[in-house]
Amino acid sequence: AKKHVLVCGGAGYIGSHMARWLAERDHRVTVLDDLSTGHREAVRWGELVEADIGDADALDRVFGNARFDAVMHFCARSLVGESVADPYAYYTSNVGSTLVLLQAMRRHGVDRLVFSSTAAVFGQPQSARIDEDHPRQPINPYGASKAMVERILADAATAYGLRSVALRYFNAAGASPDGVIGESHAPETHLVPNVLRAALGTGPALKVFGDDWPTPDGTCVRDYVHVDDLADAHLRALDFLDAQAGAHAFNLGNGTGFSVREVIAAAEAVSGRAIPYSIEPRRAGDPAVLVAASDRARAALGWRPAYDRLEPIIETALRWHAAQSF
Ligand code: UFG
Repeated sequence: AKKHVLVCGGAGYIGSHMARWLAERDHRVTVLDDLSTGHREAVRWGELVEADIGDADALDRVFGNARFDAVMHFCARSLVGESVADPYAYYTSNVGSTLVLLQAMRRHGVDRLVFSSTAAVFGQPQSARIDEDHPRQPINPYGASKAMVERILADAATAYGLRSVALRYFNAAGASPDGVIGESHAPETHLVPNVLRAALGTGPALKVFGDDWPTPDGTCVRDYVHVDDLADAHLRALDFLDAQAGAHAFNLGNGTGFSVREVIAAAEAVSGRAIPYSIEPRRAGDPAVLVAASDRARAALGWRPAYDRLEPIIETALRWHAAQSF
């Protein structure tokens, strides 16, 4: 059945791909975004309501005007370093405002949520691949704020019957293959956009944060997963909630790690350009290796990432960066 989904944070990187994914599958989309970090130009599928999820009155108006089948919640502050420097801001936005949203959903009888969580809930990895049983010991306020919301969702399932899926993304990357929407943050701290801007000359030379990590080539290893594969997992999670009560969580990654040097090499191969870079000190808060075990998402949601290799992910990101409109 077609659903009407409120996509909170739908003007942002992952949320805008989600809005498109839903609309192109004939679901009805309303985007709610305060445009603090999102882009008006990225909202092309569904209407935009410009509001903050922390504003209960605004939420009452939004929920009062429509009958949503579910909420997808992508709004968050998401910079690890900034969260260490300003934890109050992170707990206010990521936990406090989420509570305002959850309470509005309850007031208006909306009982389904897909929530953006993160590998950062796990802290320092204790195993080569991280599955859902891995201990959750976040090492920064960003990860802690997401872990707190996961706990709130579990309690809300018991108390109020809220159905939820928390999806813990590893490293989201790539862009819609037609290059119309993509990743655009200011400041940009993520590896793939920084590598491509260095390749295209639209940004400075890349800074590689450490080449003395305990990894095969000394640079950090991450599990890159395409943004449309994340959108696919969200829609599957929504269908999953038709049959499942309770609070659920799944890790989303390809299960293969690539080092920073391997990302640079792949981007050079895809772009045909040399990427200037310098080796810098390690960045605070970075774990050496983060790789997902996503067997449960595969089994429970039937999720199979369409982009299971690095080059095609980078290729879509490059197309966006070369044609960037916002
Ligand atoms: N890196 C560089 N140079 C850069 C940017 C990044 O060397 O200019 C390195 C980082 O040190 C890290 C790797 O590239 O080793 C990936 O860094 P990103 O910033 O792209 O991604 P992170 O792994 O730090 O962060 C991502 C999400 C966070 C989330 C985290 C853990 O962006 O929101 O995964 O889940 F918290």
